[in-house]
Amino acid sequence: MKKLLVMSDIHANYPALKAIQTHVRLDQFHRIINAGDLVVYCSFPNETIEWFREKKNTICIAGNTDRRVLGILAGGKLGKPRREEKRVMYSWTCENLLPENARYLKSLPEQSYISIDKVRIGVYHGTSDDEEETLSPEVPESRFWELAKNSPCQVQILGHSHLPFHKIVNGVHFLNPGSVGRPFDGDPRASFAILTIHSGKISVEHIRIPYPVEEVIESLKKNGLPDIYAKMYRDGKKLN
Ligand SMILES: [Fe+2]
Repeated sequence: MKKLLVMSDIHANYPALKAIQTHVRLDQFHRIINAGDLVVYCSFPNETIEWFREKKNTICIAGNTDRRVLGILAGGKLGKPRREEKRVMYSWTCENLLPENARYLKSLPEQSYISIDKVRIGVYHGTSDDEEETLSPEVPESRFWELAKNSPCQVQILGHSHLPFHKIVNGVHFLNPGSVGRPFDGDPRASFAILTIHSGKISVEHIRIPYPVEEVIESLKKNGLPDIYAKMYRDGKKLN
């Protein structure tokens, strides 16, 4: 039996990531998977990346916010998002990210694949087609069928929508663990999942745990970042 810790969309919320580490025993996991968006929107990008850098058994991909940060660091201009309170979170991240952590971010692939006991798992940020496609349980079933039909994997781990779900379509498991650091479903607790593979059988457990939200809000304040984020973290809801 092999267990995998599945996380996504940490968004530099290190207190939420630490709370998960305190809640689970990390040495029980064969692999630790992160489906992208390690940074932006919280004030702990270095601590978050270093947590992954120091571990040997991680499978980490880059998400759209990671890629935008890399684009700015490479001298590019930030297109989306337009809202000033969001743009400042990108510029702050770029100014504060240590070079070795930026290098790690740059080394991350857009997608990743792994086989465990003959079960093939794909890790994508949005979907296998588009890192910015938002897949949620509300998306028409036909889209899941399309993705399942072309899937080289029995399990597709996804992020980006910040909404936890596990859906089986045409034998393909679509698993979104939700967002560790920036949930959008009205539950402010950190969201993650445990994927278990036992003799080819696949099972999923979704878990929510509280973390010190006020510590995050205090840190945003200390770093002069917009106070509109306090409500987002307290309510577990999107800004707009
Ligand atoms: Fe995200």
